[in-house]
Amino acid sequence: MTSPLRFDGRVVLVTGAGGGLGRAYALAFAERGALVVVNDLGGDFKGVGKGSLAADKVVEEIKRKGGKAVANYDSVEAGEKVVKTALDAFGRIDVVVNNAGILRDCSFSRISDEDWDIIQRVHLRGSFQVTRAAWDHMKKQKYGRIIMTSSASGIYGNFGQANYSAAKLGILGLANTLAIEGRKNNIHCNTIAPNAGSRMTQTVMSEDLFEALKPEYVAPLILWLCHESCEENGGLFEVGAGWIGKLRWERTFGAIARQKNQPMTPEAVKANWEKICDFDNASKPQNIQESVAGMIEVLHKIDAEGGVSINHTSHATSTATSGFAGAIGYKLPSFSSAYTEMETIMYALGVGASVKDPKDLKFVYEGSSDFSCLPTFGVIIAQKSMMGGGLAEIPGLSINFAQVLHGEQYLELYKPLPRSGKLKCEAVVADVLDKGSGAVILMDVYSYSGKELICYNQFSLFLVGSGGFGGKRTSEKLKVALDVPSRSPDAVLRDTTSLNQAALYRLSGDWNPLHIDPNFASLAGFEKPILHGLCTFGFSARHVLRQFADNDVSRFKAIKTRFAKPVYPGQTLQTEMWKEGNRIHFQTKVQDTGDIVISNAYVDLVPKLDISAKIPSEGGELQSTLVFEEIGRRLKEVGREVVKKVKAVFEWHITKGGDIAGKWTIDLKNESGKVYKGPAKGCADTTIIISDDDFMQVVLGKLDPQKAFFSGRLKARGNIMLSQKLQMILKDYAKL
Ligand code: NAI
Repeated sequence: MTSPLRFDGRVVLVTGAGGGLGRAYALAFAERGALVVVNDLGGDFKGVGKGSLAADKVVEEIKRKGGKAVANYDSVEAGEKVVKTALDAFGRIDVVVNNAGILRDCSFSRISDEDWDIIQRVHLRGSFQVTRAAWDHMKKQKYGRIIMTSSASGIYGNFGQANYSAAKLGILGLANTLAIEGRKNNIHCNTIAPNAGSRMTQTVMSEDLFEALKPEYVAPLILWLCHESCEENGGLFEVGAGWIGKLRWERTFGAIARQKNQPMTPEAVKANWEKICDFDNASKPQNIQESVAGMIEVLHKIDAEGGVSINHTSHATSTATSGFAGAIGYKLPSFSSAYTEMETIMYALGVGASVKDPKDLKFVYEGSSDFSCLPTFGVIIAQKSMMGGGLAEIPGLSINFAQVLHGEQYLELYKPLPRSGKLKCEAVVADVLDKGSGAVILMDVYSYSGKELICYNQFSLFLVGSGGFGGKRTSEKLKVALDVPSRSPDAVLRDTTSLNQAALYRLSGDWNPLHIDPNFASLAGFEKPILHGLCTFGFSARHVLRQFADNDVSRFKAIKTRFAKPVYPGQTLQTEMWKEGNRIHFQTKVQDTGDIVISNAYVDLVPKLDISAKIPSEGGELQSTLVFEEIGRRLKEVGREVVKKVKAVFEWHITKGGDIAGKWTIDLKNESGKVYKGPAKGCADTTIIISDDDFMQVVLGKLDPQKAFFSGRLKARGNIMLSQKLQMILKDYAKL
């Protein structure tokens, strides 16, 4: 059983507590140990007259039951006096329940100035006066709980209550701001719209209903919201008859009715009206930042005629979507962009390469003999190709860019990026996935230098709130992120980002103001501008390259990352790495907080041997020669161990253009094994015939020897079963 919610020692002021709901609250608080101030002016329900009887009766009732209470007979319009009673009697004020109220109902045209004013004065101004008088005391003690009383009449409107509706919704506006201003001092402010039988509702409710809607069914919500253990702040609740529900705002996805450099017309509004009012795919903005961020995105979108903010990690919800299936396979217009050594260097500096590490000089000084472009620069032009506005044009997708998160990134290089050059990008919607809470668009971008494919990117863009359209959850096209091993990392590298990191990184082409403009960041819900996710990605890739490939860019094959959390410029990034063969698993943390910001990531490296093997053979020399030589070298170290496992002699016939172009023997049977050119000296257990090209494919792991055998690309003679051991030898040849 949970322990009862107590208010011992807490001083609670309930206004208008001489009857109805206020009385029920006062009694309930007192019963649970609170010291209660019972305020009531004592007039009639129209606010005429005054007296002490109403408040005194309730104080008496509380005392009779063993509780502690004092009366106050002032109007809530004199808030200072009301609160002073609490301070004089009990020395503090912890809880204010603004409840006092009157009615002056009549149809709108007949409302007199007085009927209008007195309703505003008692309800809205009264709530303001009492709360302001208590506010500084609460601030000083860093504790306070405030209740505002609104009404369904204010929320929905009600015939004959224009004055009252206006005041009641004014109270909600007041509460919304107090919730924000009070938060840092542990002052919470919540609003209720009750339904209860009282003298106020006696004339409008049937007897049965009046009886059924007891004030005692509202009081428990007030007590919970006012308890020190309750975290709720800024909420609005409808309550009555034992039922409690919470309300929030909902906003349609809406439509843009304006075009760049065009006047906005009412006809355009009319044309978009259905979309403007369509609550399918509506969002539920929770604060002004979420509300305005959408608007600012619209400005950017119109300005850029469809730009995209990727890496945007705002909490906004919902994106309109329709006809996703039609989007799959859609090709964005092809895009070309040239870059010079300056851009190459700017990017390297943007992802933290620095002259303080002499090994980084090759990335930041074009005069270095081995000047190189960092492999992750491969995302930059691909990203530009999407930011040109093409994403906004995808048929069947209506993307709200304020709600696009950059979920994951895959990059594969087919050869090192040139130090300067021109790349042409072809982007295609590879697939659209339904993740329930959102949709994922897989954008595949192929970048060519001339006709040669240089790199391939896969952007996973998460559209918050656009899921649930009945699509598939995963795709064979998705480059899958992998868990990191559970053991402790094999290596950890750290780099402290500079305060200017995002300012520098954006010069490479991601101009989203989220990363530089404090106002924009604040509107998007961040305390300050955040670092680009792809900047952290660049830092991490650099760490892997330095740790496991000695900064040799030709060894960088592929990278996959998942963006988990934002990073602020100035924080220290810590890349934790695990080596598993040629795959380096990693995750990146913010050292200061321990938060994982990049998760489930890996870099694939090209084995050292492959690089020499990749060097094109000159003068008709076979590529396989280099591999046999390398195997021979490695065998000197571990040959004895391998001989024990394999116990066979393999003769290789390497063909080119259908002819045998070379023969090699790998002797894994005698002594510590050896590799030599030419046929086996003695008897080979197995003879393998394979083309030079296919041999390289097998060695690179791109061709499975078993499959090659069954498809006839690899022929074996002698003890064919032994050829199964080839897999072990060739796949794991690095160990040889
Ligand atoms: P009620 O008339 O029984 O209680 C209101 C109390 O406030 C009265 O005791 C009255 O003397 C006191 N009061 C009026 N003017 C005052 C002033 N200037 N200073 C101090 N005290 C003053 O009415 P009920 O139903 O208990 O209403 C409580 C609150 O709940 C009101 O704010 C009302 O607008 C609100 N409300 C009630 C609903 C209901 O179904 N009962 C529906 C929606 C809102």
